[in-house]
Amino acid sequence: MPTYPFICPKCKEKLSINGHSYYCENGHCYDLSKSGYVNLVLVNNKHSADPGDNKEMIKARVLVMNAGYYDSLAGKIADILEGYPHSSVLDCGCGVGSVTGIIQKRFPNALVMGSDISKNAADAAAKKYKDIPFCVASSNDLPVESESQDVLICAFAPVFAEEFGRVLRPGGIFIRVVPDVMHLYGLKSILYENPRKNEKDTEEPAGFEKIKTEYVADDFTATGEVVSSLIKMTPYYYHTKKEDLERVFAMPSLTTNRAFEVRVYKKSEN
Ligand SMILES: C[S@@+](CC[C@H](N)C(=O)[O-])C[C@H]1O[C@@H](n2cnc3c(N)ncnc32)[C@H](O)[C@@H]1O
Ligand SMILES: [Zn+2]
Repeated sequence: MPTYPFICPKCKEKLSINGHSYYCENGHCYDLSKSGYVNLVLVNNKHSADPGDNKEMIKARVLVMNAGYYDSLAGKIADILEGYPHSSVLDCGCGVGSVTGIIQKRFPNALVMGSDISKNAADAAAKKYKDIPFCVASSNDLPVESESQDVLICAFAPVFAEEFGRVLRPGGIFIRVVPDVMHLYGLKSILYENPRKNEKDTEEPAGFEKIKTEYVADDFTATGEVVSSLIKMTPYYYHTKKEDLERVFAMPSLTTNRAFEVRVYKKSEN
């Protein structure tokens, strides 16, 4: 059994896996779920009983990802990682593990892990990617040893720069993905009469040096059930009139554009 750099959320000691549970030396124990993830959120640290995406959103996300929605993005991230040490990679706020899975496939000798605050997301990820350790955890309190990771990835999920800096080794790489201003403009043009561009994300993580920004921009065609799923995994699902949603859900296929910004940062060497 490989050893993973998980630590106990209660006492911060190293966790070891034994059968279907993780243990620390102080006897705290965390069972693996049926699908294989471990929940490392302490009950009193949860802000709601079921934080993160709900089951309907997760189902939509899985369908869209299975249709290859992230293939070009994850391929770009993997191309970038070729240029840096990448023996250990943690995908923070990994969702259903779409990027995590593609990175692990590209670097089978690396220890690639994923964490997400949503149990539903971790469950879907663990079901699909049996060889990847997934945990339920908040990115502001990662149950992972300090300076244990070569690479941290955070795609469309909240960034906690100080905590990410703790977990990354000196000189480690932090990859942050944000939607570009034109992301899904094609879809918005179908949904709305006067579509607007996305606001530019200008947040920069403190304590990191930006190395470069790369862009992924191409088209994606959704067919059948993937059409409604694509919309359900966006905020537009909640901000669009019912009749407009119904009109688009009835479309047998829909082509829209993807546009992502991939920002590459480095933690200082000392
Ligand atoms: C838009 S999804 C992106 C998921 C995945 N990275 C992807 O690109 O498909 C945002 C994810 O962030 C997770 N999330 C939100 N707040 C979080 C937090 N504080 N810590 C960890 N994950 C969080 C959500 O549960 C959700 O899975
Ligand atoms: Zn403990």
